[in-house]
This record gives sequence, C-alpha cells and structure tokens, in this order.
Amino acid sequence: MIIDSKNIEEAKLIELANPKNKEILEIGCGSGRQAFLLAPFCTKYVATDTNNDVIKSNKSKITKKLSKKLEFSVANGEKLPYSSNSFDTVLMTLCLHEIPIQKQGIVLQEIHRVLKNKGQLLIIDPTEPPDQVQSAFNVVYDNFQFFDHSTVVKHSMWAIKKAISNNLFKINKLSTYKLDWKFDNLKEFVDFIIDCSKDINWDKNKRQFLEKELIKIAKIKNINNSVIIYDGLTVNNLIKIK
Ligand SMILES: C[S@@+](CC[C@H](N)C(=O)[O-])C[C@H]1O[C@@H](n2cnc3c(N)ncnc32)[C@H](O)[C@@H]1O
Repeated sequence: MIIDSKNIEEAKLIELANPKNKEILEIGCGSGRQAFLLAPFCTKYVATDTNNDVIKSNKSKITKKLSKKLEFSVANGEKLPYSSNSFDTVLMTLCLHEIPIQKQGIVLQEIHRVLKNKGQLLIIDPTEPPDQVQSAFNVVYDNFQFFDHSTVVKHSMWAIKKAISNNLFKINKLSTYKLDWKFDNLKEFVDFIIDCSKDINWDKNKRQFLEKELIKIAKIKNINNSVIIYDGLTVNNLIKIK
C-alpha cells in the first residue's frame, strides 16, 4: 500500500509552511511523515505526540544529517513544554479532531501561547463531507464502533471558528487538497482497514459487509486490479493575532 504515490505532499507542505528559516512545532506527529518531509527545509523542527512508542520509533529513524534540526518529543498539546512566543509555525495534521471535544479550545490557546506574534497555525483535517479514505474508515466507525466521526470533525471546525471569533487567530487562507492511497487489489484494501481496527471481532459476515461497502466507495469493477482512493484534506491556514 502506498500513500501519496505521486509524491505531492512534500511540495504541498512546503507551499503551505514556507519553511525556510523557520522554527516549526508539530503537534500529533504520529509516524512522523510530515516531520521527515519538512525538517530538511527549515531551521528547526520539533515534532511532538502523546504516544511514547511513535516518538521512540521516529527518533530511531533520524539521519545524522537531520539530527541537528529535527527533534521528536513526547508532549501533550493541552500543556506544551515550550516557552511563550517561541515558534514561527505550528502544524497539526489529522490531530485536532482526535482531541476530546472539550479539550480542543485549550489546545488552540496553548498553540496561541507558543506561537510568535503573527506566527502561522496550519491545521489539516479531513474534509467534511468525507472523501473516499474517510468514508472507508467510516464504514467501520458507523457500523461496528458506533462512533460518528463526522461529528468530531465538525466539532474541530467549530473549535477553530471559536478561536477566530475569540481573536486568537485570523484566517490567512482556507483550501483543500487530495492525496491518493494505492492498494495492489481489493484484498489488500480490506486487510488494511481491518488491521486499523483490531478491537473488532472480524468474523466472516463483518468482513463480507466491509468488502461490499469498500467496493462501492472505491467503485471497484475488478477485485484483482489495483485500487486508488482519495483522501480529501482541508487546510486551515491561520495567523496568530497578538
Ligand atoms: C491520526 S494521527 C495523525 C498523525 C500524523 N499527523 C499524520 O497526519 O499522519 C493523530 C495523532 O495525534 C496524536 N494526539 C492525539 N491527541 C494528542 C494531544 N492531545 N497532543 C498531542 N498529540 C496528540 C495521536 O497520538 C496520534 O499520533
């Protein structure tokens, strides 16, 4: 399985963050995909996550060349261990909507604190209504986990609007882009989605139901052909107001 087979993410992130001479903080870096793409182009890149395991694994992948500017650290967006006014840019990709609804405002206030005056906040979250990638995950959320993902995404949009109306940030630009996800065939696609939700007891019926829904979402005509689905992302490009 390949995410972003046409390699557009790096150019997109560079266009959005304009990283030259910047000190960037990332919150919720996960496997570090964006950190490894952007760090070579900026002065300093601090990538954080609450998950100790991903941070440990990312640290082990830092090359000697990047070791002076790229740092991975365990930190919670609700209470960032950094001084006020210390970063030019804060990046959050697919993270704000994962933070409990009642904590999102606190995280946005913390980001405002650590950003320099007129600093940039880039929040990248799934589009709403969802594109194909999110729709594939929603089959599992809606039918087996009884979790309304669209509601949490809408709430994170609301939390951003609230931070804007509270004069923490103003909008520089709102935009969207798409990344492709490519699988060798339907089986690889189904196995991937199942692998992402190990808490479910995947019996034959559930697997067949998932398979039928994924065929519809990806508009699959031949189950042996490669499958390409698109991940629509919304970019909230914001500027800190003093
Ligand atoms: C869906 S992953 C996205 C990872 C990566 N940014 C990407 O786009 O592939 C969300 C990440 O946010 C992290 N996270 C959730 N709540 C957080 C918080 N309060 N502070 C920092 N990271 C958090 C999770 O541990 C997870 O790694």
